[in-house]
Amino acid sequence: MRKKIVAGNWKMNINVNETRTLIAGIHQEIEAFQLQNTRVVISPSHINLSTALALTKESIMEVAAQNMHQAKNGAFTGEVSADMLQSIGVQSVIIGHSERREYFKETDAILAEKVSAVLENGMEAIFCFGELLEDRKSGNHFKVVKSQLQNGLFHLESKDFKNIVLAYEPVWAIGTGETASPEQAQEMHALIRKTLAEKYNQEVADSVSILYGGSVKPANANEIFSKEDVDGGLIGGASLKPADFAAIIKAI
Ligand code: PGA
Repeated sequence: MRKKIVAGNWKMNINVNETRTLIAGIHQEIEAFQLQNTRVVISPSHINLSTALALTKESIMEVAAQNMHQAKNGAFTGEVSADMLQSIGVQSVIIGHSERREYFKETDAILAEKVSAVLENGMEAIFCFGELLEDRKSGNHFKVVKSQLQNGLFHLESKDFKNIVLAYEPVWAIGTGETASPEQAQEMHALIRKTLAEKYNQEVADSVSILYGGSVKPANANEIFSKEDVDGGLIGGASLKPADFAAIIKAI
């Protein structure tokens, strides 16, 4: 059975003290939950990963990094490698978030290399992709999403997909308060699964968790998560509020 996943992407928010407070707050909210077949992931900035890892040792919460460099090591001032993340205990890395694609000019080719580096270091990649508003308006959304999937991941072998989580995030829904309708999310998730089945096989398609991201909040989580091919969410703004994040976890 596919795992349900609720992952909080904290982006470039909160310092180390606030990280401690937020983790304690989430623990308090979710400690009574009986979660089955469900993973809860938080993704602090690099500098707060060690703190988060230490504070979640005994907890259901897992810790993911938000990004990393594709090279093994070398003269890349300011960057962090897969080996560095793996060596402190990080198990997952978000790759290809639309903010990385847009502000840091990460191309499909770079992202394909990053995914490989994550997997080579024994971690899981949470691969994000999704269309721009103009792609949807011009009716190109399926084509764009398919090509992001192909260019970012189709160099992998089917066995690699046990360490891949997908996050479909329409860019027009991120941080805007506008959410894709549950039907729009389901339609795209089904297309993603079909594309995986065509390239690999049905087993791969059926076993990969596909998260939806973009303005998920307590008020809409239930409806989005009720869709057959939506296996959870990548949550931005609402993941910084313990009660909201917990309510979204409860909805899964
Ligand atoms: P949002 O962000 O929930 O604030 O829209 C989602 C994301 O960027 O992953």
